[in-house]
Amino acid sequence: MNEFTFYNPTKLIFGKGQVEQLKELVPQYGKKVLVVYGGGSIKRNGLYDQVMSVLKETESEVFELSGVEPNPRLSTVRRGVEISKENNIDFILAVGGGSVIDCTKAIAAGAKYDGDAWDLVTKKAFAKEALPFGTVLTLAATGSEMNAGSVITNWETNEKYGWGSPVTFPQFSILDPENTFTVPKDHTIYGMVDMMSHVFEQYFNNATNTPLQDRMCESVLTTVIETAPKLINDLENYELRETILYSGTIALNGMLQMGYNGDWASHNIEHAVSAVYDIPHAGGLAILFPNWMKHNLKVNPSRFAQLSERVFNVDPSGKSEEEVALEGIEKLREFWTSIGAPSRLADYDIDESQLDLMADKAMVNGEFGNFNKLNKDDVLAILRASL
Ligand code: NZQ
Ligand code: ZN
Repeated sequence: MNEFTFYNPTKLIFGKGQVEQLKELVPQYGKKVLVVYGGGSIKRNGLYDQVMSVLKETESEVFELSGVEPNPRLSTVRRGVEISKENNIDFILAVGGGSVIDCTKAIAAGAKYDGDAWDLVTKKAFAKEALPFGTVLTLAATGSEMNAGSVITNWETNEKYGWGSPVTFPQFSILDPENTFTVPKDHTIYGMVDMMSHVFEQYFNNATNTPLQDRMCESVLTTVIETAPKLINDLENYELRETILYSGTIALNGMLQMGYNGDWASHNIEHAVSAVYDIPHAGGLAILFPNWMKHNLKVNPSRFAQLSERVFNVDPSGKSEEEVALEGIEKLREFWTSIGAPSRLADYDIDESQLDLMADKAMVNGEFGNFNKLNKDDVLAILRASL
């Protein structure tokens, strides 16, 4: 293990009916509350009315920012910052999935920054302060509800970057599995692919002596693999939604990543793809990740073989480590295909015409990846294998 400091101040509130807790929580931060949400799912499923009626009881002065896009855009962040500054907002409440929460993080920090929020996303400036914010999560996927990360897209320049700061942890996050009942099948699948990918990004690291971390990662993966096929056929099953909601948070709240740095190259490549084509984040990951694995298998075959045996039940007898590793990667691909995830860029009508542009975007900060450093040729090879 490497030396590490673990810090996570987010209060996690989990379970049925917990939205009621907003009544006590919100007034702690002030009167003027900006509620941020997406394209309307919370209006259709009744959560909007529920949140507004609780806020009414707190006598908060409520402002709203709606229409946060999946892959949230800088233009929307700027609108939120403007509303916050003009109205001296005290507290922001994000009600939605990762996109709404990520957008809220950028608004919260942007409202306390004397320049354009894009400076924070591009790391030209560091967010030292942010408005306090909380979340009501509606989709299990990103872990954004309990981490400080945020991913913002500048659609004018086709750039999509992750950023974060110790001030961009939510103060609290409310996770009620019932609020995820209406997530459609495709986004339910994407969410499960995303959380599994977060575990893979962490599992592939170069630290030694991480037996507990390995087992924790493997547990999250096997739990999602057991649950996913049942959930996609039973979208309103409370227990299955509960298991997946909790898995998504654990996959990326820092608990798994103590004592090592994860790889994160596949996420970097995916962000470049969705900056150019605006495809769902985890649709991109489902296509790219197995190809990243094949490309990097030789870096440490025994790590891949361990994953194959422990998570994908590959029988190693009479096989080389590389054969075991490869079989596990094939089983991952088969599993994702079996639950309905895409497997080729062609599934999103992406051909080779923009491969070079996507590779350049992925390379914007030079070589990347902690398990194995990738250069532009590596990225192009992974993208080509994904066509
Ligand atoms: O906009 P609305 O109408 O709310 O609809 C959303 C959206 O269309 C819908 N949805 C959400 N909850 C629902 C629901 N529909 C019905 N019922 C509900 N309860 O689902 C669609 C997708 O929502 P979105 O928030 O975009 O999905 P997700 O949570 O997967 O977030 C994706 C974004 O997070 C970033 C991705 O890059 C992408 O921009 N990521 C953020 C991370 C982080 N902050 O730590 C890490 C991730 O790796 C990821 O990169
Ligand atoms: Zn992700």
